[in-house]
Formats: sequence, structure tokens, C-alpha cells
Amino acid sequence: MLPHRLHRILDVFAAAGIRRIAVRTGLTPPTLNQIHALRRQPATRVRLLVVPAVSRLPVGFILYQVVPPEAEILDMGVLPEFKRRGFGGCLLGGVLASLPAAGVASCYLEVRASNRPAIALYTRHGFAPDRVRRGYYDSPPEDAVCMSRRLSHPPGGAFLT
Ligand SMILES: CC(C)(COP(=O)(O)OP(=O)(O)OC[C@H]1O[C@@H](n2cnc3c(N)ncnc32)[C@H](O)[C@@H]1OP(=O)(O)O)[C@@H](O)C(=O)NCCC(=O)NCCS
Repeated sequence: MLPHRLHRILDVFAAAGIRRIAVRTGLTPPTLNQIHALRRQPATRVRLLVVPAVSRLPVGFILYQVVPPEAEILDMGVLPEFKRRGFGGCLLGGVLASLPAAGVASCYLEVRASNRPAIALYTRHGFAPDRVRRGYYDSPPEDAVCMSRRLSHPPGGAFLT
């Protein structure tokens, strides 16, 4: 267990990393207060990808929620200068691989209908479109594509939680 102070420092580091990447990737940057509020929810998880060979600062993040038997990908981003190097796939694949052990059987997300790179990434990782939510996004107004995928439990796995 990490000491409380170290947790706080890691939280601030994570929040600053998410904001920095969100601003640079054109996502609506959450405020630090919004990030801290999300982090206080026990279901929320965040992963930052640090690749020392290319940068000392995080190059990507993924924010998701785990409420077994479901998980939701809330947001993710990779700095523009590091796109198409497999980092987004590394973040998403890592999260998906961890979910069955947490009792998750399906994962879902929403994505702007025009966001071809993200839809391509999600499709490559087994997500399929379920439906379209008309006018889901604003600034600019746009439909959302709702996507989901099933996850297989580890062999012989049975979850008690
Ligand atoms: C979506 C995003 C996270 C992808 O990150 P990335 O590191 O570039 O993705 P990867 O390099 O791991 O790509 C994995 C696969 O996704 C698909 N893909 C990713 N970007 C693509 C693009 N611009 N065009 C087509 N396919 C793309 C490809 O299948 C790719 O595999 P390949 O390079 O072998 O062809 C990144 O483009 C991003 O940060 N976009 C802005 C923020 C955003 O839209 N977030 C999603 C919100 S729902």
C-alpha cells in the first residue's frame, strides 16, 4: 500500500498528464476538479503510458470505469506526435486484457461518428457498433456511435464478486 502522500502526488501527476494530453489531442479537457471527482469514484480507473525511450512525460492515457460485469471506456488519447506507433493499442489492449480478472464480461463505449481513427482502433480491438445516439455530442453537435465487445473469462474462471 502506498503512503497517502504518495497517492496524492500520483493523483496530481495523473490529472496533469490527462489534461495535457487531452488539450493536445483536441479532446474537451476535463478540469482538474472533474478529474479528481472521477478519481474519487471507486469504479474509475486511469492508466498513463510512459515510454522513456520517446518522452519523460506520459504519451497517452485511458480513463475507464469498472462495474462488473461491465466496463466502460470513458476517454483515451495519444499525443499527436506519437500517434500510429501502437501506443493507443497498447493502452486499450492492456485494459481489455485486465478486465476478465476483474469479473468484467463486456465492455462498451461511445465515440463521435466522425472519429475514424478511434473507430478503427476500437474495431481492431474487437468492438462492434450497436447503435447510433442521435445528437449525443455538442460543440460541435454530432451523433455518437455506441460500440461494445464481449470479453472471455480466464479458463476455468469463476468470479465470486
Ligand atoms: C484514437 C487514438 C487514441 C489512437 O491512438 P494511436 O496510438 O494512434 O493508435 P495505434 O497506433 O495503437 O493504432 C492501432 C490501430 O488503430 C487503427 N488506427 C489508429 N489511427 C488510425 C487512423 N488515423 N486511421 C486509420 N486507422 C487508425 C489502425 O488499425 C491501427 O493499426 P495500424 O497502425 O497497424 O494500422 C489517437 O488517434 C487519438 O489520441 N485521437 C484523439 C483522441 C481521441 O479521438 N480519443 C478517442 C475518444 S473516444
